[in-house]
Amino acid sequence: MIPALPDTHLLPASHPLSDGRTASSPLVRAYHGVRSDRTPVWFMRQAGRSLPEYRELRVGTRMLDACLDPEMASEITLQPVRRHGVDAAIFFSDIVIPLRLAGVGVDIVPGRGPVLEHPVRTAADVAALPPLDPDTLAPITAAVQRTVAVLGSTPLIGFAGAPFTLAAYLVEGGPSKDHLAARGLMHSDPDAWDALLAWCAEVTGTFLRAQVLAGASAAQLFDSWAGGLSLLDYRDRVAPASARALDPVRGLTATPAGGVDPVTVPLVHFGVGTGELLAAMRDVGVDAVGVDWRIPLDEASRRLGGATPVQGNIDPALLSAPWPVLERHVTDVLERGRSAPAHVLNLGHGVPPETDPDVLSRIVEFVHGRA
Ligand code: CP3
Repeated sequence: MIPALPDTHLLPASHPLSDGRTASSPLVRAYHGVRSDRTPVWFMRQAGRSLPEYRELRVGTRMLDACLDPEMASEITLQPVRRHGVDAAIFFSDIVIPLRLAGVGVDIVPGRGPVLEHPVRTAADVAALPPLDPDTLAPITAAVQRTVAVLGSTPLIGFAGAPFTLAAYLVEGGPSKDHLAARGLMHSDPDAWDALLAWCAEVTGTFLRAQVLAGASAAQLFDSWAGGLSLLDYRDRVAPASARALDPVRGLTATPAGGVDPVTVPLVHFGVGTGELLAAMRDVGVDAVGVDWRIPLDEASRRLGGATPVQGNIDPALLSAPWPVLERHVTDVLERGRSAPAHVLNLGHGVPPETDPDVLSRIVEFVHGRA
């Protein structure tokens, strides 16, 4: 028996984690620190431009419109599962979707990334940010429901952008290398910064909860640009907001039938260049930590104290190397991953658009072929 939980923490009986579809999947088990016969594998940005079927479907539809069309978002989410046989789907959406749904003027410019109509630079700009009406999340709920209805025992990962990464786009007005304006605001107007991160935590947490309640079996928070922060700034000025963003999905629990132990929705936290931040990122309260390609997984696991499951960290640059070179690298990643309690094989960052999709399929086949 588990201690009595408030009803709000119990997932519905029809959720894939509750009804026996995904609670024992290699992915969910690995995020909870339990190894299976095979190492689960999926790829960040597996849904997207490396797939010809994605490029074909997207013709004539803008990125954010595709994310808000439940049929299209669901189909794009399923494409890499069908093609590669990966152990998880990741919901096709974008970290800026909750901003768009709240009414913030944001678009994704092909080849560039998210661009804001009006950058958020002052306390007044922050105060003017609109609240997110939960009803606007209907297309997200519909897309997730459609997707899990066909995924069967393959878990769907829901995701959201962490407050710092969202704030970096909002303040800079677009992609930036060093996020000087965002990091400047943090120190020049600490109250405006805190208010901005609180707003981001609220909208991104609402977006994440909608995905989990609709059927996602795990949730990943992307703090892609946190690696540009000092550990001190990360801990004091950013991590508390990331913890709040996860609160709406923290402890959501399924009580599967058939004697399977209760299972919480596992939470995963990832950022690029975060070797110095790994333990602090774990300490926002997650089950597993994603690692980029810059430090080997055995070193990452050591920095995490050896008790945290890790995800990663094939160098995306090696996807274009001859197979024997890539195979050696993947083998090395798998071996180093053994020093953690469990390992989910992934890339150290997203699939580059020019990647040959057959290479991704071959990695999956190779990993599944190893015990
Ligand atoms: O397969 C998956 O990983 C699921 C889909 C996904 C997308 N964006 C689709 C997408 C996920 C998880 C994201 C998250 C996201 N979006 C992050 C965090 C992950 C990371 O990469 O660090 C960030 C920083 C963004 C913001 C963003 N959106 C960028 C930087 C870009 C690239 C712009 C470009 O054209 O190079 C996007 C656009 C985007 N998001 C695309 C996709 C498939 C490409 C748009 C297209 O196909 O036209």
